[in-house]
Amino acid sequence: MISAVIFDLDGVIVSTDEYHFQAWKELAKELGIDFSREDNSRQRGVSRMESLEVLLEKTEQTFSNDEKLAMAEKKNSIYRDLLDRLSPDQILPGALNFAEESRKLGLKIAVGSSSRNTPFILKKIGLSDYFDAVADGNDIQRSKPDPQVFLIAAERLAVRPAECLVVEDADAGVEAAKAGGMFALALGAAKGHPGADLRADSLERLSIEKLLRELG
Ligand code: G6P
Ligand code: MG
Repeated sequence: MISAVIFDLDGVIVSTDEYHFQAWKELAKELGIDFSREDNSRQRGVSRMESLEVLLEKTEQTFSNDEKLAMAEKKNSIYRDLLDRLSPDQILPGALNFAEESRKLGLKIAVGSSSRNTPFILKKIGLSDYFDAVADGNDIQRSKPDPQVFLIAAERLAVRPAECLVVEDADAGVEAAKAGGMFALALGAAKGHPGADLRADSLERLSIEKLLRELG
């Protein structure tokens, strides 16, 4: 029986994934790298440094660790400038309804995100105190597809992994949920992932009650 819903943040609760893309694209331009949305989709759910490696696969140039750290820092500063524009208006359609409906059914709700900017983003969209628990990139040593962030969220909610439904828009996130012994609802880009238990285009007009019946 499901007793908790763990939401990914970027691309599930809020449309920051577009800002990630713009920031990486700007860094790529400086490095003379042609960076596409397809490349960007492989960065979904993975940590900042691993995302940088995805981008650097597209160049023959080699860089020292310090240079890579400086690049990641640069991307993050471009990204933080974009995040400054964030407001509750950028909460994705259906996300709050889905969370509210989960609450009404007696489920606990949490965020499980690889992003170290999670506290800042939640503050900008007015949801700092909204969730029963938050686990993010500041809590983990291994990012998705490792299940660590979701397992920490479940522990903070005091529920067993098998009682959790993870909502994800990234293949790496669906894999993390399954590796953690949880159920996965795959949205958007992750919809085609064979490991998903449930699928939808987005949270818009989606009913958790109906999905739970589908899970049986
Ligand atoms: C999320 C995004 C990834 C991003 C990661 C780290 O999982 O989907 O694209 O790389 O967070 O984000 P950060 O804000 O810490 O750079
Ligand atoms: Mg995401």
